[in-house]
Amino acid sequence: MIDQAEILAQTEVYVKEKLSGEGSGHDWWHIVRVRQNAHTLCEHEPVDAFVVELAALLHDIADHKFHDGDTSIGPRLAREWLASLGVDEVTITHVCEIIAALSFKGSGVPTPMHTREGMVVQDADRLDAIGAIGIARTFAYGGHKNRVMYDPTIPAVAHDSFAAYQKSTAPTINHFYEKLLLLKERMNTPTARRMAEARHAFMEQFLTQFFAEWEGER
Ligand code: ADP
Ligand code: NI
Repeated sequence: MIDQAEILAQTEVYVKEKLSGEGSGHDWWHIVRVRQNAHTLCEHEPVDAFVVELAALLHDIADHKFHDGDTSIGPRLAREWLASLGVDEVTITHVCEIIAALSFKGSGVPTPMHTREGMVVQDADRLDAIGAIGIARTFAYGGHKNRVMYDPTIPAVAHDSFAAYQKSTAPTINHFYEKLLLLKERMNTPTARRMAEARHAFMEQFLTQFFAEWEGER
């Protein structure tokens, strides 16, 4: 049975290999940032750091958006990987539950987390979806999916089901209103709420400037 440090080291190699060079903003460096955010949050939350690290590393191993909407594939791959390393069943189940529950599913769809470890990883992932990095990732994703940046004739939609949210092919700017600007209020931990403030304000400033330029202001 290998120890926790070795399990994390091997998982890092596995994830890095799978996600390197990914072009939609879900690449290896997203994982590194989420892990870093999680470390910061863990300083203020009593959590099992091993579970947090594993869930942060494995949370985007197979995203439903790139597998025909199949939300079970991520947790399944994570389970197979962790079982192959001999990780105990309780830890595997906990990590896979976090991965399954993590994603944003539309403005009207609650995405509750039942453990502190899950709350930390969800917040860490969502912090990387807002601010300057969030803006960059969102346009990277839009380009990857061939979306237009903005179309003033297509309004943003408040999705009340995951299916409707998944189906959307709206312009990239709409995603700010359909998800990114809503995340600040949906953070689980006080530290993430505080960290979200400046990132949120930066997105608002970006949008104000974007629309001013759109109208040809000098
Ligand atoms: P979650 O981590 O909640 O599952 P996603 O993986 O769906 O979130 O999204 C991560 C990031 O990918 C978003 O924050 C955004 O930058 C980008 N993204 C996802 N869906 C869209 C979209 N429809 N339009 C633009 N960007 C998107
Ligand atoms: Ni992620």
